[in-house]
Order: sequence, then structure tokens, then C-alpha cells
Amino acid sequence: MQPSLISPSLLSCDFARLATEVARVEEAGADWLHVDVMDGHFVPNLTIGPPVVEAIAQVARRPLDVHLMITDPLAYAPHYAKAGAHVLTFHVEAAGTLAHCRTIIRAFRDEGVRQVGIALNPDTPLERVLDVVDEVDLVLVMSVFPGFGGQRFMPEVLGKVRALRERGFERHIEMDGGLNAATLPACAEAGTNVFVAGSAIFGASDLRATIQGLRASAARARAPERA
Ligand code: DX5
Ligand code: ZN
Repeated sequence: MQPSLISPSLLSCDFARLATEVARVEEAGADWLHVDVMDGHFVPNLTIGPPVVEAIAQVARRPLDVHLMITDPLAYAPHYAKAGAHVLTFHVEAAGTLAHCRTIIRAFRDEGVRQVGIALNPDTPLERVLDVVDEVDLVLVMSVFPGFGGQRFMPEVLGKVRALRERGFERHIEMDGGLNAATLPACAEAGTNVFVAGSAIFGASDLRATIQGLRASAARARAPERA
């Protein structure tokens, strides 16, 4: 069974103090650091470019989990790979065809990315990616429409996680959007093992207690899986 990993989304951190925020969340027990890259085209928001990812990589001790919400992941793959993405995830909706998904996966690997992920929007059926899931290390099931932090969790996407595990997928399943102490147990129970949380972590007064609480509730919810 894959370990439960907490990946705080830096989108909700104080960007004026990026290095301090990275250190603070790492000391509080973050497993990965989730970096939301938006291009103002695939999603109606514009965030972090390769130089900023590189700056984060220089101070980070935990792996960077880079979530590309961009229209042309192939064109930018070399930049984000070189900037220090450990996990690099693109959206199937941006790729379009399965053939293009395969081209992107190959390009990411050729650029030296250690873990390649494919993401699906809440209204994209799992069937869209089933033929390529064996070629990636991680499937990211979005539980909000991408673009902004602080949105409400959509429980209707949990069925995709369950269905993927039932088909025997044993690699990482990550969930992103609206995760907190109340919504995380259902994600874990369905089979999610990588939990992204932005506002729930950076909005908390005690980061360590919050991250430990999320990890403990994931372990409790996943316990029957182990039995
Ligand atoms: C949404 C991003 C998420 C977001 C999560 O487009 O991909 O990673 O930052 O934020 P919360 O946890 O606040 O929903
Ligand atoms: Zn994200």
C-alpha cells in the first residue's frame, strides 16, 4: 500500500515570504510541496512560472509536486523539469488525445522527471485516462474545478478514486481541492493516498497539529484497507 502523503499547496501561503513559508510547512511535517502552476488560459488565473519553481527548489528539502494547469504542458516540460519538479502532473483536458498524453509522458521522462502524473477535472470521466494510467506514477483527481484555492470539496468525484483502485491501480492517487479535516477521511477511504490542502493548512494557526491531524485521519480511514 502507498504511504499517506500530505502535500500542502503553496498557493495559500504568503508569497512575500516564500522561503520562510516553505521552511515552516516542512518543519510542520509536509511530505511534498504542492506547487500550482496556472497560465491564465487553461484556468482563469495566473500564478507560478519556472524561475519561481526554481527558487522554491533551491530552499526546499521536500519533493516539489508541480501541478501544471496550463494549455501546453509539452512546451513547458523542459522548463519545469529543469526548475526542479520531482512530481510533474499535466491535465488530460489540456492534452486532448491519448496519443498526445503519451507524447507528454515520454517528454517528461526524457527531461528527467522522476514521477509523472495525469490530472482530471471534476467533470472528466475516468474512462478518459484508463488507457494511459499504467504509464504514469500518479493520477490526480481534482475535487474542485482548478483555478483557485479555498473552494468547496465535490464528493461526487470520489467514485473515480474507488473505481481506479478497484481496477487494481496501485500507484499514487492524489486528490486536490477543498480538503480539510472534515472532507479528507472520505478521500482516504475511497483510496486516495496523496492529499493536497492549501487553505486548510496555511489558514490554520498550528501548522504541525493540522498536518499531523490530517495524516492521522488518513491513516484511520485507510486502516480497513490494510486489514
Ligand atoms: C486549485 C489548486 C489547488 C488549490 C487547493 O486549482 O489546484 O491545489 O490550491 O486549495 P484548497 O486546499 O484551499 O482547496
Ligand atoms: Zn493543485
